[in-house]
Amino acid sequence: MGFAEAMRRGLTQASGSLKMIPSYVGRPTGKEQGTYLALDLGGTNLRVLAVRLDGQGGAATDAASRFVVPQDRMRGEGTVLFDFLADCLSLFFKNHRLDRLSPWELGFTFSFPVAQTAVNAGALLTWTKGFTASGVEGQNVAALLANALARKNLSAISVAALCNDTVGTLSAKSYADPSCDMGVILGTGTNACYVEETQRIEKLNPSLPGKEMIINLEWGNFDHLETNVYDQTLDRASFNPGRQRMEKMVSGMYLGELVRLMVVDMIEQGELLKQKDASAFACPYSVTSEHMAKTFHPDDFFASFGIDDAAGRDGVTIARVCRMVSARAARIAAAAIAAVILRMDKDLGRRHTVAIDGSLYEKYPGFEENMRGMLEELFASRAVNIRLARVSDGSGIGAAVIAAVAAANRPQG
Ligand code: GLC
Repeated sequence: MGFAEAMRRGLTQASGSLKMIPSYVGRPTGKEQGTYLALDLGGTNLRVLAVRLDGQGGAATDAASRFVVPQDRMRGEGTVLFDFLADCLSLFFKNHRLDRLSPWELGFTFSFPVAQTAVNAGALLTWTKGFTASGVEGQNVAALLANALARKNLSAISVAALCNDTVGTLSAKSYADPSCDMGVILGTGTNACYVEETQRIEKLNPSLPGKEMIINLEWGNFDHLETNVYDQTLDRASFNPGRQRMEKMVSGMYLGELVRLMVVDMIEQGELLKQKDASAFACPYSVTSEHMAKTFHPDDFFASFGIDDAAGRDGVTIARVCRMVSARAARIAAAAIAAVILRMDKDLGRRHTVAIDGSLYEKYPGFEENMRGMLEELFASRAVNIRLARVSDGSGIGAAVIAAVAAANRPQG
C-alpha cells in the first residue's frame, strides 16, 4: 500500500501503519495573546519555556531552561519520569524567579504517538525513541503530568494543551505565516503533521466544530518501503521490532547504526580497515549521525574511533557509505512530504510552507539539498511552490501557541 492510500485509510476507522491522529486543534489566527508556559519532552532533551505572544504573529521566549532526561528516568517507572518533569518545572520557576502561585496555562509537547481525545487529553499508544517507562502506555499523559504537578505543589499550572512536536512546529510557524500547512521533525525521530479539512476526517464525529484540524501522521511507523539487509538487521535487534520502520530508515537515532552495520559487513568481507583494530565498531549504536557528518572531513570519522587512516583510502569509502545512507533518508522524507502536500492540493497549485525542525535537518551537511533535489525530481518547476522553512524551537513555542488557542476556544463559565 502506498503512502497516499495509507493516509486515506488512517483517516477512516481502518487500521494501518499511518495512525493519522487528530490533534483537536486548527491553526492559530496569529491574534492569540499573552504569556504561556511550554514543557517540551522530545526525547532525551527536555525544555521549559515561557513564551510571550504579541497578538500580531510575534512570539518571544522570555525564559528558557534545558534539561537532560537521565536514562533511568526514561526506562524506569512512569511516575518517576513525570515527577522529574514537574521537578524541572519547579527549578525553572526558581531559576527565572517566576511566581509559581499565580495561574499559568501550559502547553505540553509530548513527542510520542498519543491517541488524542481532546486538545488537552490523550493516551500514549506506544513508546518510541528508546523510552520504556512503565505504566504510561494506555494512560492519559496530560493527566499524568497534572498529577505530578499536584504532587509537587504546582497546582496553579493548568495543562491547557497536549501536542505532538510536529503539531507544535506547524503552529509556531503558522502563527506568523498563514501559508504554513505542514510541520516536519527530522531529528532523533521523524514525523509530520498537516492541515486537513475536518469533514474529510471520517473517523471523527462530523459535528465537531471548525473547518480544519491538524493531523499528526506518525509517519515514522509507515511500513511499505523497500528495505535492505541492513534495515532488516537493525529492525530485528531494535527494542521495537516491526514498528517505526520508516523512522529506522530516516531519523538521526538510526542512521549511524545503519552505517555501522554496513561497516561491519565490509570489514568481514575484507573491504575496509584491513589490518586495523576495528573493535570500536562491534558495539551497537557506537556510530552516530554526528560521526557521519564528520565524513565531510574524511579523516575525522576514523579519528573519533581511535583509528589512523593516514592513507585516506578508507575515508573515501566511509564518506560514500554515509552519503548513501543520508541521501536515502532525505529522499524518503521529501517523497513523503510530496505525498502529504498532494493530499492537500492535488495539482500543487498554491504555495505551501513546510515548517521543519530537528538536528538532522539543521545540522547534517547536504540533507536539505538532497530533499530539495528530490522535490525537484518529482515536481520539476512546480517545486517552487513548496518552501522548506527551518523553525528552531518550534515544538516548544508552538505548544505555547496551542495553549493560547485552547484557552481562547474554551467554553466560558
Ligand atoms: C517519534 C514519535 C513521534 C514524534 C517523532 C519526532 O516518531 O513517535 O510522535 O513526532 O518521533 O520527534
